[in-house]
Amino acid sequence: MKISIKDIVKGNKPIVCLTSYTAPMAKIVDPLVDLILVGDSLGMVVYGFENTLPVTIDMMIAHGAAVVRNAEHALVVVDMPFGTYEHSKEEALKNAQRIMKETGCAAVKPEGGEELAETVRYLVDNGVPVMGHVGLMPQSIEKMGGFKIQGRGDAGAQKVMADAKAIEAAGAFCVVIEGTIEPVAKDITEALTIPTIGIGASPACDGQILVVDDILGMFSAFTPKFAKRYVELAPIVANAVKTYADEVRSGTFPTIGHCFLPK
Ligand code: KIV
Repeated sequence: MKISIKDIVKGNKPIVCLTSYTAPMAKIVDPLVDLILVGDSLGMVVYGFENTLPVTIDMMIAHGAAVVRNAEHALVVVDMPFGTYEHSKEEALKNAQRIMKETGCAAVKPEGGEELAETVRYLVDNGVPVMGHVGLMPQSIEKMGGFKIQGRGDAGAQKVMADAKAIEAAGAFCVVIEGTIEPVAKDITEALTIPTIGIGASPACDGQILVVDDILGMFSAFTPKFAKRYVELAPIVANAVKTYADEVRSGTFPTIGHCFLPK
């Protein structure tokens, strides 16, 4: 059964979310999770950028459409990349509608708290479902001075709480809390009526999300503390590639069995 936004609610069962960026990965992930995020983390994971700032709306649309075409079960959300929603709520709506029209996704995810609430309200009022994203916001690394854990001290805790509450009040159906100290993420989860989705946040969150290449041990540029690796695929892939290269060089691949013969 296809999961809809109405199914993403606070309840007894944790909400399982994972990123995917390509058709083959979406096919594998789709039946096993509740929500697939086509995250702008693809800038680092797929394109090898240092951060997510260079990601364009065209990249998000190409990858978003590939994932949507291969997701029969999970709800698919596509990230709004840096520079596509901050300038004005009208521009945010135009870009969010383009992402939804051209990918077929169910919702979009911009990053931001209190300062973004009016835009989120405008998107929701105009038929664009929004997943919020507060705490550590990778698109704001220049402003935050790097990938810094949020919620420290009274002022830090109050800021993330206020951001989450503002995004809930603006009509988001759920909110990602990234890189935030645990008691604050827990307090936010208790304070909100919409589900919280944690990444480097708290087991108390209503759901969890990770980057798929991180859990598979495929992305080695930087592994954050919260990214549990369930398998180490990179050495397995390297070994297969080495065997192929050795066989081509030694003439043991291809064999006649791999060739098309005349009838
Ligand atoms: O871009 C991304 O993949 C994300 C999640 C990891 C929350 O925003």
